[in-house]
Amino acid sequence: MKKEFSQCPRVIDESELYGFSWIEHVAAIPSPLIVVTSYKDNGKPNATMQSWSTFVSEEGFYCIFGSVNKDGHMYSSIAKNKQLVINFPSRDIYGKCYKTIENNGYDEDEITSSGLTAEKASTVNAPRIKECFLNLECEYLWEKEIVPNAQHVVMCVKIVNVCMDEEHYNSEEKGRYGETGYLYNIHSPINPETGREDETYIGMIQKLAAYDEL
Ligand SMILES: Cc1cc2nc3c(=O)[nH]c(=O)nc-3n(C[C@H](O)[C@H](O)[C@H](O)COP(=O)(O)O)c2cc1C
Repeated sequence: MKKEFSQCPRVIDESELYGFSWIEHVAAIPSPLIVVTSYKDNGKPNATMQSWSTFVSEEGFYCIFGSVNKDGHMYSSIAKNKQLVINFPSRDIYGKCYKTIENNGYDEDEITSSGLTAEKASTVNAPRIKECFLNLECEYLWEKEIVPNAQHVVMCVKIVNVCMDEEHYNSEEKGRYGETGYLYNIHSPINPETGREDETYIGMIQKLAAYDEL
């Protein structure tokens, strides 16, 4: 039976959700897990774990970051350089990518100090993470606040170069999905009737069938 919720359920304390809406946790829609790299003002490589984003074609190919914190290094670095790389980790290096949150000092090379390799991008002034199976080199286009004076912005960047591991674009080898492919962020699902909150999980995509065969 489907049930409807238009107010925060009594069993959920929204003040304990770190600014996230209760609807985010009830719907718990997965989003792709990526690491954005750029150069800080001091030239040191910056790495920021990101989710809440999507990818679209419109006379080119674009990433729409749904929620970039204005107080983070990613925001200030891109505001200055207008260039960045979106890196896609597979599960074997997720732990190292997560370490970039701890190794977040302004003076740090956040990629190297997390046990990953920083290499220069081919077409933009930004570092890439060598171990990630896909690197999308990007140029900043625009940003917008969802509501006036929001803490986060929606940001649109244009992809200008693709660097991808051949074993991942070959679906007969590692491919893009399953155990060796894209990771997804599953942000703490909450049961709106009991208030039970699950862990935040890392997910993967399992192909079911061709689009016209289900
Ligand atoms: C799975 C995951 C997803 C995240 N997604 C975002 C995001 O979409 N937007 C954001 O501003 N921070 C996000 N964060 C938090 C940032 O990665 C974190 O605050 C980071 O330290 C900011 O780094 P920076 O100051 O170098 O930009 C995420 C963290 C994790 C673990």
